[in-house]
Amino acid sequence: MIRYLVTGGAGFIGSNYIHYLFDKYDNNVHVINLDKLTYAGNPDNLKDVENRPNYQFVKGDICDAALVDELVPRVDIIVNFAAESHVDRSIGDPDAFIKTDIYGAFVLLESARKHKIKKFIQISTDEVYGSILDGSFKETDTLEPSSPYSASKAGADRLAFSYYVTYKTPVIITRCSNNFGMFQYPEKLISLFVTNALENKQLPVYGDGKNIRDWIFVLDHCDAIDFLITNGTLGQVYNIGGGNEKTNIDITRLILQKLDKPASLITWVTDRPGHDRRYSLDTNKLTALGWKPQYDFDSALTKTINWYKDNTLWWSKIKTGEFLDYYKKHYKL
Ligand code: NAD
Ligand code: DAU
Repeated sequence: MIRYLVTGGAGFIGSNYIHYLFDKYDNNVHVINLDKLTYAGNPDNLKDVENRPNYQFVKGDICDAALVDELVPRVDIIVNFAAESHVDRSIGDPDAFIKTDIYGAFVLLESARKHKIKKFIQISTDEVYGSILDGSFKETDTLEPSSPYSASKAGADRLAFSYYVTYKTPVIITRCSNNFGMFQYPEKLISLFVTNALENKQLPVYGDGKNIRDWIFVLDHCDAIDFLITNGTLGQVYNIGGGNEKTNIDITRLILQKLDKPASLITWVTDRPGHDRRYSLDTNKLTALGWKPQYDFDSALTKTINWYKDNTLWWSKIKTGEFLDYYKKHYKL
């Protein structure tokens, strides 16, 4: 029985990861989910697992060293998803990003070191490399993060590495590309545009819409993490990508087409400051170990759109209060 501490497990990828673990390992795993329940954390994401005897939810902050120290001795593996994750919010208000993404990771690493954890997975991001116009980033490339979000993630990424080098804490670092799928807070490109289109609201495309992201279905990301826990080498960094590079405007048009909605819903808005033009990953290090994504982009996008169609209550509950304040202030729409 492997015992996991999943931090940020009430968010988008963390909740999908917990579902993935129970679907794959059923009662042969124990999961403690430590989550502060910020605006992005949502207990509804885990309703179907909350009564499992091998699941425990703890509402708390990864910056709380006393709490973390209580939980870490009870687990074998820490998977650190907890973070402030939205680039636009980091531009308006970086404070929480520095606290959670860097200091929070430090608190977890310190506890992992003290209690001799068996494995520590730091969920980093492809954004730590910055933008690349030609070619693809390898794990050995220089980090040039360009937003307070990606800079704070780069800080945690390198701090985790330093704990491996200095203290031999058994760390693995993953850098994944843009995820999409079920339970994504509707502030990110795909979840915002699908839900806006369902409401016949405008889809606000930044700049010229030609920025490129590499998209991966969230369950492929979860599967790659699980694969690396078994097959990854300690102290190493692994890029995880879907191999689906698309411009934002192409994604936007595809969403409208799949929902049979008019192109007149597209609204061009002021660009994001410091907007990275293109992300692209060389994933040979991971694929050489024998892992590859299972989901193709088009059918995973259809599956995702159908999920938002079938779960309007999930997102309409979110698209009130804090979300509306943020949306109106940010987009001025
Ligand atoms: P998310 O914003 O949906 O979820 C983050 C979760 O962390 C929320 O449940 C939130 O309540 C929790 N949290 C925030 N601060 C906390 C704190 N101080 N203590 C405990 N919990 C806290 O984010 P996501 O999109 O699921 O991303 C998860 C992780 O994956 C992040 O580390 C992010 O940097 C990384 N990542 C995301 C993507 C992507 O495309 N979304 C790609 C690569 C890497
Ligand atoms: O690359 C991995 C990263 O992907 C993760 O580390 C981050 O946590 C995650 O938020 C995501 O960052 P991005 O900034 O790439 O994702 P976002 O969905 O915010 O934006 C994707 C692209 O779409 C980007 O070029 C900006 C553009 N965009 C986004 C929004 C929300 C728009 O044009 N309009 C929008 O309203």
